[in-house]
Amino acid sequence: MYQVLYRKWRSQTFDDVVGQEAITTTLKNEIRQGRFAHAYLLMGSRGIGKTTCARLIAKAVNCLDPQDGNPCNQCESCKAIDNGSLVDVVEIDAASNNSVGDIRDLRETAFFLPAAAKYRVYIIDEVHALSKDAVSALLKILEEPPEHVIFILATTEVQKIPPAIQSRCQRFDFRRIPSDVIAGRLSRIAGEEGLSLEPEAALLIARLADGGMRDALSLLDLCVSHSREVTVRTVSEAAGLIGQDYLFDIADGVAKGDLSAVMDLVTRVGGQAVEYDRLCTQLVGHFRNLLMMLASKKPQELVVCLPETLERYRAQAESFTVPRILYAIRVLQDTQNAMTRTPSRRTELEMGIIRLCDPRLDQTPEALLQRVEKLEAKLNAALAGGLPAQTGQAAPPAPAPRRGQAPGPAPAAPKPAPADLSREAAPFPQWEEVLERLGKNNPAARGALLGSTAYTAAGRVLIASDNPVFREMMKTNEYTRASIKKAIMEVTGVKYGLGPYKGPAPAAPKEPEQDPLEEVLRQAKDAGVPVDIQ
Ligand SMILES: Nc1ncnc2c1ncn2[C@@H]1O[C@H](COP(=O)(O)OP(=O)(O)O)[C@@H](O)[C@H]1O
Ligand SMILES: [Mg+2]
Ligand SMILES: [Zn+2]
Repeated sequence: MYQVLYRKWRSQTFDDVVGQEAITTTLKNEIRQGRFAHAYLLMGSRGIGKTTCARLIAKAVNCLDPQDGNPCNQCESCKAIDNGSLVDVVEIDAASNNSVGDIRDLRETAFFLPAAAKYRVYIIDEVHALSKDAVSALLKILEEPPEHVIFILATTEVQKIPPAIQSRCQRFDFRRIPSDVIAGRLSRIAGEEGLSLEPEAALLIARLADGGMRDALSLLDLCVSHSREVTVRTVSEAAGLIGQDYLFDIADGVAKGDLSAVMDLVTRVGGQAVEYDRLCTQLVGHFRNLLMMLASKKPQELVVCLPETLERYRAQAESFTVPRILYAIRVLQDTQNAMTRTPSRRTELEMGIIRLCDPRLDQTPEALLQRVEKLEAKLNAALAGGLPAQTGQAAPPAPAPRRGQAPGPAPAAPKPAPADLSREAAPFPQWEEVLERLGKNNPAARGALLGSTAYTAAGRVLIASDNPVFREMMKTNEYTRASIKKAIMEVTGVKYGLGPYKGPAPAAPKEPEQDPLEEVLRQAKDAGVPVDIQ
């Protein structure tokens, strides 16, 4: 029967566990001296040796003929543990439903002497998943563990383990395994299995596995099912690194804003060759790689792919800007989230694609601000070119009501640049009164406006305030705008528009130049894109 590599090649001694030398050396010493802890907490990401070490501890403390702290793997005890017949070694998977019962049982059985072995060992895997009840039961035993009992807790999420439990354990923080160490072990295993594995292919697998040995072995298994001669190309095929032209094609369409082309591609690929959610994940990965091309000096270390694909990423990245890519990633991640909540994944993806192709649908404050700035620039250009300014009339008539709309947030209309208006602005005497009234509906806005002044010009009230909180509220909060307009209307009986007023204030101190890469990384982090750059 074929046994998958990662099961077949579970390390049988501490010396055979790679990349965790600090931990295995300590454990061997403790066992050799018979001075081991009664509770261990093994933490770290998946597939890096936690369960392996837990079982090795169970074997080593019970081994009849330990070898320098390692289990001998020959004696009856070692053999019984290997084939699961030793009742004194109990493995509990806390992620399964019956674990509460298991822990309750454990409180009773733990106090009996071991049936056959020296120590009764409880291995509790995924211990962060235990229910509250189970955790307090466990804590009770950990407070006074019987002499003949050893607990080995393992978790990928140590931050979820209550401090009271952590402090009663000897803790071991397992590391992701360096790529060259993984590659070395893969080569050794391949050799013993009679497989041919190119060194570059071993390294590519190791990098794809991102420090996890189990993932590396699973990927090697997958490659072997393609071909017993594993080359870089085999790995690329098996890992789906090539044959993904459609991702480049879709991104091309997005860069051009060609909605119908993108929609075509997505319907052709999605749901057939690739599931919709998988396609979405692949697209996130694709845009993440494009981002690395723009943001990093050494993208080849951050983007795992064939050299020729790296060139394609590089070329494609040139048709994007960093904010545009961040927008795409955000849209795709929203789509992914939405897909988990609805059965109509296809519709979700289609809606995402529409947003993706039209950055005007980007509703973030930065994007809105960018668009307002563009509009202002256009308008300034038009005014400078001698177009009659639409704000020419002096009287402040109420702006024409918009197609039957109730007063309230109005769509952003092109605004004259503040500088142009301020030339003809006159102080607005009722401002204090307006603020007072505003305080009734929107005290936050009033608070932000204390100490401000206002002017009128061309049917608008221009507010002079250098309070950044207020500016932010005006930019992002339609309620703020609406409530200010309402207060003005109540005081004056006239419907005014609103605008910012930039008086001849002293120039604000210039902010220190930010490292653009820092900024990109921060934005990427906000968007949830994994970025590691030393
Ligand atoms: N540090 C390691 N050295 C050698 N093999 C490892 C190591 N970590 C994981 N493996 C391989 O991956 C498999 C799964 O590892 P396991 O110990 O169950 O990981 P986890 O940390 O998720 O408990 C093992 O059977 C072994 O083949
Ligand atoms: Mg495990
Ligand atoms: Zn033994």
